[in-house]
Amino acid sequence: MGEQLGLLGYDYVEFYVGSAKMWAYWHAKAMGMKIIGYSGPETGVKGKVSYYLEQNNLRIVVTSAINPSQYQIHQFVERHGDGVKRWSLKVKDVRKAFDGAIKNGAIPAWEPVRTENENGWVEEAALKLYDDAEIVFVNRDNYKGIFKPGYGKPIQKIDIVSEDTGLQAIDHIVGNVRTNEMDLWVNYLNKSLNFETFIDFGPGDISTQYSALLSKVVRSTEGPAIKNPINEPYEGLKKSQIEEYIDEYLGSGIQHVAVITNDIIKTIAAMRKNGMEFLSVPDSYYDTLKERGFEVTEDIGELKKYGILCDIEGKGYLLQLFTKPIGDRPTFFYEIIQRRKGAQGFGQGNFQALFESIERDQAQRGSLDK
Ligand code: FE2
Repeated sequence: MGEQLGLLGYDYVEFYVGSAKMWAYWHAKAMGMKIIGYSGPETGVKGKVSYYLEQNNLRIVVTSAINPSQYQIHQFVERHGDGVKRWSLKVKDVRKAFDGAIKNGAIPAWEPVRTENENGWVEEAALKLYDDAEIVFVNRDNYKGIFKPGYGKPIQKIDIVSEDTGLQAIDHIVGNVRTNEMDLWVNYLNKSLNFETFIDFGPGDISTQYSALLSKVVRSTEGPAIKNPINEPYEGLKKSQIEEYIDEYLGSGIQHVAVITNDIIKTIAAMRKNGMEFLSVPDSYYDTLKERGFEVTEDIGELKKYGILCDIEGKGYLLQLFTKPIGDRPTFFYEIIQRRKGAQGFGQGNFQALFESIERDQAQRGSLDK
């Protein structure tokens, strides 16, 4: 066991994107989030613009560069397209968490930085992750203002009409890495953050006739659950979705963020109304669900109507659905998930139906053939 870090769960996820304003509007409309904060020249921040959005405990930041001084943001977007730059973990003591993680073997990205104004202070530090991402340790407990120093109220009055989606918080964050990189990053997270391997999907566990992947799930051993599946491609007849991601993202990075809801039927109905596109499953999926004869509280007809997937796991079950990639490249997407009766898994029973759905989209993009 390495140094204890005092991890307190996920805080926010930050994207680097071509246009923060467009991404903020999209999250407000399709995800039903509220634009709470803005940072840019008007708030004394040079060369870049960020919007901070919230819904319950789901916190998203979208950032773009507005001149060449912020070349790191340009370079990220030029290479990867719009994507997740960093996800953050709340800690009580940023210095202690950072030093402890480095002692455990983590690679530093940047040292603890404290920013402050009349509303208090925020401290953050970051570790490297995958090709170009970061894990941030953050303490915002002593800040009374909007999000962080440098943020203020949105300059324009932004009033977007959107259905209430009831999204609650981050459930898990998934990375895609190259062939033979999965164990490297699994060991990195386990060692650096005192995580443990929780689920191991080996060869043959997740595959269709055409494509396959390997996946391991690591999770925190202290504090609230922090779960991070990591996928790598596995040999198949055609190009797997993980290979497509690596090709299009030009490297390893974050594939999806899963968001918890307490009422998935309401959430998916609202998101569909808001214009969100989801992966589709054939009607026959629901026949087999009925045949399995498991008692779910929800009406299977309703699940079918909204295309929601159901996976049974011991005495519990989980309901989930994946959006289509939300940007221009077939890379990042969201997952919506509801866990019932203590289900802990990730929907292994749905992988077959989902993969076939993804492969249909890959074929349309012409990226199924190697
Ligand atoms: Fe997931």
